[in-house]
Amino acid sequence: MNFEIQKRALTRVIRDDLDALVIFWPRQDTEWDSAQDPVSSLVRAALRQGDFEHKAGAVLALYAHAGIKARHVVVASVADGTPAQVRSALQAAWAALKATKSKRIGLHAVSELSGASLQAAVLSLADASYCYTSTLSQAKPRTLKQVVVSSPSVNTESRTAVAQAQALVSGIEVAKEWANRPANHCTPTMLAEAAKSIAKGASFKCQVLGPKEVAKLGMGAFLAVAQGAAEPLRFIVMHYNGAASSEAPVVLVGKGITFDTGGISLKPAPEMDEMKYDMSGAASVLGVFKALSELKPALNVVGLIPATENMPDGLAVKPGDVVTSMSGQTIEILNTDAEGRLVLCDALTYAERFKPQAVIDIATLTGACVIALGGVRSGLFSDHDALAEALQQAGEAAGDGCWRMPLDDAYAEGLKSRFADVANVAGRQAGAVTAAKFLQRFAGKMAWAHLDIAGTAWRSGAAKGATGRPVGLLVHYLLSQVGKPSKGSAAARRRA
Ligand code: BES
Ligand code: MN
Ligand code: ZN
Repeated sequence: MNFEIQKRALTRVIRDDLDALVIFWPRQDTEWDSAQDPVSSLVRAALRQGDFEHKAGAVLALYAHAGIKARHVVVASVADGTPAQVRSALQAAWAALKATKSKRIGLHAVSELSGASLQAAVLSLADASYCYTSTLSQAKPRTLKQVVVSSPSVNTESRTAVAQAQALVSGIEVAKEWANRPANHCTPTMLAEAAKSIAKGASFKCQVLGPKEVAKLGMGAFLAVAQGAAEPLRFIVMHYNGAASSEAPVVLVGKGITFDTGGISLKPAPEMDEMKYDMSGAASVLGVFKALSELKPALNVVGLIPATENMPDGLAVKPGDVVTSMSGQTIEILNTDAEGRLVLCDALTYAERFKPQAVIDIATLTGACVIALGGVRSGLFSDHDALAEALQQAGEAAGDGCWRMPLDDAYAEGLKSRFADVANVAGRQAGAVTAAKFLQRFAGKMAWAHLDIAGTAWRSGAAKGATGRPVGLLVHYLLSQVGKPSKGSAAARRRA
């Protein structure tokens, strides 16, 4: 899908060659009180009759209207024009347009919208029109090919916002594709191939380690999760180098459980299929690298993906088994379903070799986070205030929000073990926090943050599907770091 931005007045855009046109109508319409174009007069009449109102989500649909070239036109109120209002406007407009199979759609802002609002419009349209096709024999691919954003004035902000949106959509759709694929079409080996192909297209470095190399590194926790699976594990290491090699990188670590049965601590059958999404953190890392390949910012970024299935088996790890992590800490695996933290802890130890300015892990880590925050915001855990604030702000800017959660040491009480340095689970309470407390032990002196995306990475039910989150948050965060001198990891760390 292609996006462009053009300077256009309403009187001009109605003569453009488009299959469908969405007209974002603002609340301040005094300017249009006397405008004589066919749309303005209609909107005035509809407002008078009470058939249209200044409320995001209100739409007025026209068909083959005299004086308008696009066959399908939807006037959509954006009220005050905030990104959230523009998102609802776009969604309401799409409901009226999705059956039209339009190839070329115009999104016209009658009065200027902020860059953030234009980006929100483009991202929502991409999200709404996305179609999964990979494992369907008679797939109906998306018909929409071209999106023309227009506004009476166009400036650097709006141009940048649309250009960024183009890269974000590429990244988000990579993340959706891999997260949506069923586990037999998304094995650790296939994930590694996907990483390699993204890297190859952009001449990034990408290394893929297998079981032998991972054993040699001493990743006993990661190996313990993988030992019940017939599919071989992969440890994927991606490098994006956009800045001098003296600049400390940001390291992203994505949980890559390509299917989570729970292992010997087997999950119940209902909705277990959704555990194909347990590699959504990994998919978001692939998506970020895809976006980086288009944006080419002056930054260094390393992506780490520990990928394996979590299976029950004669050779699988058993509750009570004690393993030695790469950090040297021993772990009592009391529940084999708390496997995400086991693969992540070794990847965090591996991250130390890059002396990162920040390390961020992204994981569908706990059902408890879904209970705490639902599908609206991802859980954000960090003992580094500046990093936490930058991530929180990036989430707001991207419309991909997160919310900071606590990390008091008192939450780690339940992780004490009589048989190892630490247990992999605590009690039932505050499960999202105790999982983060476990990870924190392995972040050492690095500036670390953890995003629990268990509630935000996919939607369940009739609209089941990956959301591509938190690619938007992560890309906005990375772009916000361009030009900031990287501090050493030790200096950057501040324990709360
Ligand atoms: N992948 C799951 C977390 C999950 C569950 C995400 C449901 C989204 C929906 C994770 O590996 C897991 O099983 N976590 C356990 C931890 C528990 C055993 C401490 C959980 O949340 O139940
Ligand atoms: Mn699990
Ligand atoms: Zn899991």
